[in-house]
Amino acid sequence: MIKEKTNCSLRAHNTFGLEVRADRFVEYDTVEDLQQVVGRIRAEEPDKPLLHIGGGSNLLFLGDYHGTVLHSAIRGVEAHDEGETVFLRVGAAVVWDDFVSYCVEHGYYGVENLSLIPGEVGASAVQNIGAYGAEAKDVIEKVETVDLRNGAFRVFDVSECRYAYRRSIFKEELKGRYAVTNVSFKLSRRFTPNLDYGGVREALLASGTEGGRVTAQAVRRAVIGIRKAKLPDPKVWGNAGSFFMNPVVDRKVYEMLKTEYPDMPHYDLGEAGVKVPAGWLIERCGWKGRSLGHAAVHDRQALVLVNKGEATGREIMDLCKAVQTDVYDKFGISIRPEVNIIGGEA
Ligand code: EPU
Repeated sequence: MIKEKTNCSLRAHNTFGLEVRADRFVEYDTVEDLQQVVGRIRAEEPDKPLLHIGGGSNLLFLGDYHGTVLHSAIRGVEAHDEGETVFLRVGAAVVWDDFVSYCVEHGYYGVENLSLIPGEVGASAVQNIGAYGAEAKDVIEKVETVDLRNGAFRVFDVSECRYAYRRSIFKEELKGRYAVTNVSFKLSRRFTPNLDYGGVREALLASGTEGGRVTAQAVRRAVIGIRKAKLPDPKVWGNAGSFFMNPVVDRKVYEMLKTEYPDMPHYDLGEAGVKVPAGWLIERCGWKGRSLGHAAVHDRQALVLVNKGEATGREIMDLCKAVQTDVYDKFGISIRPEVNIIGGEA
C-alpha cells in the first residue's frame, strides 16, 4: 500500500523534533510499491530531489524539504537456522531495538551490545551503527536495495558495502542513491559476551552479575542502563544521539597532545592512527551543558547536541560550528558531524 501526503510536517520524523515540512511524503510497504513510486515521481518531477529517511534519528533539517521524502513501512523478520548460525532477513522499517529485543529473546546472539540505539533496521545498514564494541557491519550479510534513480532492485553483499567506523558506501560514494528495503543478518546461537568497552563489565558487576553468569539479557540490560544514564531521551530533549564522529588522528599528533593532556582517553587503531573521543575534546573546551540560542551541548555526554524546545536546524548548526571552531583552536583537531545535514553545507 502507498500512502501519500503533501505539505507534510516532518516533526514526528526527526528526533531533533524540528518543525519542518516536506512538499510530499510517501510511505510504502512492499518493494514493488517503492519501485512504482520511484518511477512515477521521477516522471512527474524529474528535477526535484528525493530523500529516503528511516526513524529520523540521524538527521538535521536546516529548513523545509522541497522534494519528496520517502519512508519504508516494510516490516517482518524471517529467520532460519543452520546449525549454530541463524540467518535473519529483516524489513527496513523494523525498529532497531525491537529487532535486538527479538534476537535476545530467541537466543540469537551478536546484537545485544547494540541495544536501545534509536532508528530503524534500514538505517543501521547505512550508518553502520555501533556501540560498546559492536558494529552493524560485523553481523550484516546482505543489504537489499532499490535504486532511487530508476527503481532497479539490487542486492549488496557485505563486502561491497565498504563498511568502516560510521561509514558505508550508502553514506559516501552512493549517498542518496539506494533505499534499503531489507537487511540480512548472520547471528550465532552461541553467546560470546563482549564486555570490554564503555563500562559494560563494570555495569554488570555493579548489578551483581559475576563473569560466569553473564547472559545476553544481562548485557542488554547493562547497555540500556548506561545509555539511559548518559543519553537524553528524544521525547524529552530533541537530539540525534552522537552529533559528531570521534576523530582519528595521526599517531604523531596524538603523542604531542598526550604530553600536554596525559589524561586524554584514546583507542589505538594501529596503522590507522589513534581515535580520540570527541565528547572529551568538547568537554575540555568548556562546552558541556552550555547553550547557544535554543540549542545546547548535553550535560552528561558532550557528543550530543540537544534542542531545548524551539530550536531551528540553523541554531543547531550554529552550535555545531561554534563547537567545531573551539575544538580546532584548542587541539588542532577537526571534528565532523555524524548526523546527515539536509538542506545546506555541513
Ligand atoms: N567523555 C568525556 N566527556 C563527555 C563524553 C565522553 O570525557 O562528555 C569521555 C568518556 O569519559 C570516555 C570517552 O570519552 O573516556 C568515551 O566516552 P563514551 O564511552 O561515552 O563513548 P563515545 O566515544 O563518546 C561512542 C559512540 C556512541 C556509543 C558509545 C558507546 C560515536 C560517535 N559515538 O561514544 O554512539 O553509544 O561510543 O560505545 O562513536 C551514537 O552514535 O548516537 C552514540 C551514542
